[in-house]
Amino acid sequence: MVKIRSIEVDPPIINSSCAWSSDRAQLQALYDCTYTGAVTTRTATIGGFDENATHQATFTNDEAHLTTINSYGYSPHPLSTYLGVITDILSSENSSLPLDRHASKPFIISITASDAPTLREMVASIQSSLRYTPDGTPTSWAYRIAIELNTSCPNIVGKPPPAYTPSAPPLVDLLTVLQEEFNKDTSLTIGLKLPPYVYQSQFHDILKVIAGLSVAIDDAMVNPIAFFTCTNTLGNTLLFSSQTEQSSGSKKYALPVPLGGLAGHALHPLALGNVHTFSMLLQSAEFSCLKDIVIIGVGGVTDLRGAERMREAGAQVVGAASLFGKYGPEAFQRLFG
Ligand SMILES: Cc1cc2nc3c(=O)[nH]c(=O)nc-3n(C[C@H](O)[C@H](O)[C@H](O)COP(=O)(O)O)c2cc1C
Repeated sequence: MVKIRSIEVDPPIINSSCAWSSDRAQLQALYDCTYTGAVTTRTATIGGFDENATHQATFTNDEAHLTTINSYGYSPHPLSTYLGVITDILSSENSSLPLDRHASKPFIISITASDAPTLREMVASIQSSLRYTPDGTPTSWAYRIAIELNTSCPNIVGKPPPAYTPSAPPLVDLLTVLQEEFNKDTSLTIGLKLPPYVYQSQFHDILKVIAGLSVAIDDAMVNPIAFFTCTNTLGNTLLFSSQTEQSSGSKKYALPVPLGGLAGHALHPLALGNVHTFSMLLQSAEFSCLKDIVIIGVGGVTDLRGAERMREAGAQVVGAASLFGKYGPEAFQRLFG
């Protein structure tokens, strides 16, 4: 079991946010899955993302080295839909989970916004619909709800992933909102979904900005950010359709756009490098105020060995998207010894 501020993740294996954790049936199946210790929703915006035929995902035809490319943006379902679905699931007695797990499995709600007022409204609605009753008492599942701010989707036209420019808007503004919300409620579990960084100073730059968010609570400095999920997909990549499952036909490229975010096997070494680097830096004297941040290692985990490598690199929790997309919730069983 891994404790991340108020939530407990047991076993420390989860799905990471993706197109296959989007609707009610998919979320219920993930909740019922005994091989995962938390459910992560697809990234929601306040009003829902305008999805169309250019938004797709495809798997490579190399079964042994499962790789994906996708051009998806965010979920077409607005945040309010996720709040309703999660309330329904948590209040239903129909889950096949054992009773003890039924009473503890958390939801990580992935959200994003491009400005501070919108993010503030989204966090407030999570607090008021899921974590607190109208009279301000915590709900029975208040400590099973976490927020993951997605700062790293590479597929949004005209909106580069904010975490690549950490000291500029919109990221600084969004982080300020998270700091304010944490100040109001220090039991709130907040994490950041980070992009794959490719050179050293990028790691220092984001950590310096996050270190600046620390607040004094009872004589100790506490950082509002409780976890990093590393990494999102690697943007601007290209696969030909001959490399994919749908290799027949007249399509030249795997995606119609044709560039997209790379995940799975091909991302694994870069994801391991990101987890390793953050893990080293978070334990260094320079960033001692961030030493409690838990790393959720994501990227190319497709078997037990991959999960072990993630842990060896410094992840306390391991996540997967492509593996889950290909084989469904049962696939998480492959990550156990
Ligand atoms: C089809 C697809 C959709 C995704 N959608 C999201 C998303 O909505 N939000 C997010 O934070 N990450 C999203 N991701 C990224 C995954 O959470 C994960 O970071 C990435 O795929 C690397 O993990 P993997 O190698 O296990 O797939 C998506 C990935 C895929 C393949």
